Amino acid sequence: MFGPSELAFCLLAISGVVSASNNSASQFDPCSYAAADVLVRDVIVIGGGASGTYGAIALKDAGRSVAVVEKQGNFGGHVNTYNDAATGLALEYGVQGYSNDSITRAFFERFNVPFIPLFAGVAQLVEDFNIGKNVTPVTGNSILTWSNFTNAYYPDPALGVHLPSPVPEDLLLPFRDFIKKYHIEDAAFLIWSISGPTDNLLDQLTLYVVLGANAASAPIPGGAPYIPEVATRNNSEVYGKAQVELGKSALLNSQVVASQRSNKSVKLVVQSGSSKKLLIASQVLYSAPIILDNLNTFDLDSREHDIFKEVYYTAWYTTLVTDTGLAPGYSYENAANNTLYNIPIEPYTFHIGPSRINTTFYAFYGATHATSEADVRAAITQNIRTLSGNTSSPKILAFASHTPFKQLVSADAIRAGFYDKLNALQGYRGMFYTGNALDVSGSSSLYNFTQHLVPGIQKAVAANKVPADAGKCKRGW
Ligand SMILES: Cc1cc2nc3c(=O)[nH]c(=O)nc-3n(C[C@H](O)[C@H](O)[C@H](O)COP(=O)(O)OP(=O)(O)OC[C@H]3O[C@@H](n4cnc5c(N)ncnc54)[C@H](O)[C@@H]3O)c2cc1C
Ligand SMILES: *[C@@H]1O[C@H](CO)[C@@H](O)[C@H](O)[C@H]1NC(C)=O
Ligand SMILES: *[C@@H]1O[C@H](CO)[C@@H](O)[C@H](O)[C@H]1NC(C)=O
Ligand SMILES: *[C@@H]1O[C@H](CO)[C@@H](O)[C@H](O)[C@H]1NC(C)=O
Ligand SMILES: *[C@@H]1O[C@H](CO)[C@@H](O)[C@H](O)[C@H]1NC(C)=O
Ligand SMILES: *[C@@H]1O[C@H](CO)[C@@H](O)[C@H](O)[C@H]1NC(C)=O
Ligand SMILES: *[C@@H]1O[C@H](CO)[C@@H](O)[C@H](O)[C@H]1NC(C)=O
Ligand SMILES: *[C@@H]1O[C@H](CO)[C@@H](O)[C@H](O)[C@H]1NC(C)=O
Ligand SMILES: *[C@@H]1O[C@H](CO)[C@@H](O)[C@H](O)[C@H]1NC(C)=O
Ligand SMILES: *[C@@H]1O[C@H](CO)[C@@H](O)[C@H](O)[C@H]1NC(C)=O
Repeated sequence: MFGPSELAFCLLAISGVVSASNNSASQFDPCSYAAADVLVRDVIVIGGGASGTYGAIALKDAGRSVAVVEKQGNFGGHVNTYNDAATGLALEYGVQGYSNDSITRAFFERFNVPFIPLFAGVAQLVEDFNIGKNVTPVTGNSILTWSNFTNAYYPDPALGVHLPSPVPEDLLLPFRDFIKKYHIEDAAFLIWSISGPTDNLLDQLTLYVVLGANAASAPIPGGAPYIPEVATRNNSEVYGKAQVELGKSALLNSQVVASQRSNKSVKLVVQSGSSKKLLIASQVLYSAPIILDNLNTFDLDSREHDIFKEVYYTAWYTTLVTDTGLAPGYSYENAANNTLYNIPIEPYTFHIGPSRINTTFYAFYGATHATSEADVRAAITQNIRTLSGNTSSPKILAFASHTPFKQLVSADAIRAGFYDKLNALQGYRGMFYTGNALDVSGSSSLYNFTQHLVPGIQKAVAANKVPADAGKCKRGW
């Protein structure tokens, strides 16, 4: 039987008025929650972006029960779609395209979302965004030397980052030194224009330049046969359909606030909108950025904490802009007219691309550190006005933050085996990891990476099935 205080507690639970504190065991007890707020699943997926949505659907299709904990109000992550009321068109200002490979095709076909050719525009202009003048960076054959180098260390992006031990010092050189050592000056600008924003290119460790611009995943000379990029009429559609299919198992506006983990099972307390829920599962598939701010509520042990504490991150912001005065169908690449190799220095608007509406463009802005929305808006507006020859008054229709974006560690951490240690966490204490920290080569590559994790997750679930009644309040009554 139970005493008066437990009775009061259970009554509170039944009426749904529960306030569990972080350190009390009661927050992991189903009796502290209304029955509807306790979810028992084979796998909990953290993050409903590219890799998390793919993983949740792959596991569901393999017969496993899943729930997804997503911080934002919708699935899709780095996908941003603007609904243009006047035309009914979906205008993309986040993720633009996918590889037309068999894994990606199967995923989109499952949701009956057809591919269309990527809207790449008519031509590209390379201009200094601060002065509105054409710049012609040198380009030459040394890109082949670079391609060879990347093929030696990163031939299979979808298998993740696996480095020789000891880690070759070439990979830990600041890229400015690598360029000189291997005389690839005439490839520097092209490499910059392929990489997304992260640290300033010449300051980056060569490893991160390999991850950002490699022959296996970018259309550069000396690279793998290029699988044409495709888009959809609405890049949010596949994620919206997955969210609808998961129904109540798609927890939106939700974040983990406390955890109890072992190899056999995981309990997560999730703040979901205004309510708290208890999620009990065999395993977790984690797909959100691997930074301590996200992971410190996951009951980390010292081994995990020591790995995650090394990670820092860079920033990426996107906007959709109309009344630009830019040339219809053109894309614009930034190039500084007065820097080494014409590589612009952050923070900067680095790329402006056309949408399906002539006057409307998306603009990408990168920074080494988080930057205020007002500063980003002002810089993009100014750059576009300059590129229009001071003729336009650009209006920003939509803004999105993709920060944290790149997840990076120092040369010392890499030398000390950071990537081996991160890879070795797969399955440790009930957690598997996917997403940008493990494979930076885009959505299609991440679907593939995530698919490779599924057998291991299946095995762990089969070995540690959560009892069907794990979510029942077993006190009294
Ligand atoms: C602007 C932009 C454009 C890009 N364009 C392309 C492109 O055209 N093609 C391409 O292949 N790749 C593109 N990329 C690369 C992109 O990073 C990958 O394609 C892919 O979206 C990464 O998937 P992910 O699952 O790692 O991250 P995401 O898609 O961001 O998914 C992570 C999810 O986790 C959620 N989350 C974050 N923190 C938490 C938390 N604490 N708890 C719960 N949930 C959380 C996020 O809200 C998000 O939904 C682009 C990236 C950016 C930023
Ligand atoms: C639990 O801890 C997190 C961060 O560790 C904090 O943000 C949150 O407010 C705490 N919740 C409670 C109920 O104490
Ligand atoms: C694109 O798809 C999303 C998700 O399903 C939906 O909310 C949105 O209305 C769609 N936009 C257009 C223009 O069809
Ligand atoms: C994608 O690839 C398939 C198979 O090769 C092809 O049939 C299809 O036309 C391609 N789609 C686009 C939009 O390029
Ligand atoms: C690249 O590697 C190939 C074979 O691995 C070799 O034949 C070629 O000469 C190399 N090219 C450069 C520019 O290093
Ligand atoms: C998935 O990744 C592996 C490893 O890089 C690769 O061999 C395979 O071709 C990829 N599959 C697809 C469909 O791209
Ligand atoms: C850069 O542009 C400015 C302004 O047009 C010009 O004065 C300067 O000569 C240019 N510098 C180089 C290196 O081209
Ligand atoms: C868009 O621009 C192109 C190229 O200038 C032009 O041919 C086309 O008519 C324009 N479309 C609209 C709707 O204005
Ligand atoms: C646009 O204005 C800036 C000053 O705001 C000036 O430096 C630049 O020369 C002008 N460009 C044109 C094409 O008039
Ligand atoms: C948990 O699993 C890991 C392997 O992922 C293993 O090293 C460890 O010994 C296990 N711990 C327990 C308590 O079983």
